[in-house]
Amino acid sequence: MNDPLIVSYSYSGNTHQIAKTLQAITSGDWCEIHPRHPYPMAFPKLLEQVKREIQTSCYPQLLPGASSPRPYPIIFAGCPDWCGTIAPPLASWLYRNDLSGKIILPFYSYCGGVVGNIRKDIAKLCPKAEVREPLGIVEDGGEPLAEVLRQWIIKNRQAGGTFQ
Ligand SMILES: Cc1cc2nc3c(=O)[nH]c(=O)nc-3n(C[C@H](O)[C@H](O)[C@H](O)COP(=O)(O)O)c2cc1C
Repeated sequence: MNDPLIVSYSYSGNTHQIAKTLQAITSGDWCEIHPRHPYPMAFPKLLEQVKREIQTSCYPQLLPGASSPRPYPIIFAGCPDWCGTIAPPLASWLYRNDLSGKIILPFYSYCGGVVGNIRKDIAKLCPKAEVREPLGIVEDGGEPLAEVLRQWIIKNRQAGGTFQ
């Protein structure tokens, strides 16, 4: 595989755990995304802010430091499922970077609830990228995580394109 970039936003650690395992499997480079202003700790306030950001497509500013996607043909992009879609910090990163011609492999952590059309939501943010079918992992994926990720990568290699 060409060296991939793995980017992840995580509020409570599950998505970073998935990203870390992906890094071990792919030997890619991993960087975390951090919003400039941390989200509230209290759930009602957090939910209110998240809903507002999603409804208005008002993506939060990010701290500098996330890697540039420029050298990477393949990008694994992960975050928690928030209210049926991707968490706004990942939306912000996807929106603010030129991802033309890249293959995006989205993954998300969720608690097993209803998920919207995450692939479509991501494709809107980076219309010139090839966005593959997202992989949903319940919480941190538990013991079978590494095998689930390996199978997902094999399936995507078989799907072809420039993903080798
Ligand atoms: C504001 C908010 C909204 C959420 N919305 C959903 C949802 O719509 N569906 C779902 O299955 N889980 C939802 N969750 C649960 C998270 O996706 C889940 O806990 C995930 O494992 C968190 O990942 P993280 O540890 O990387 O932040 C939500 C959590 C929060 C805090």
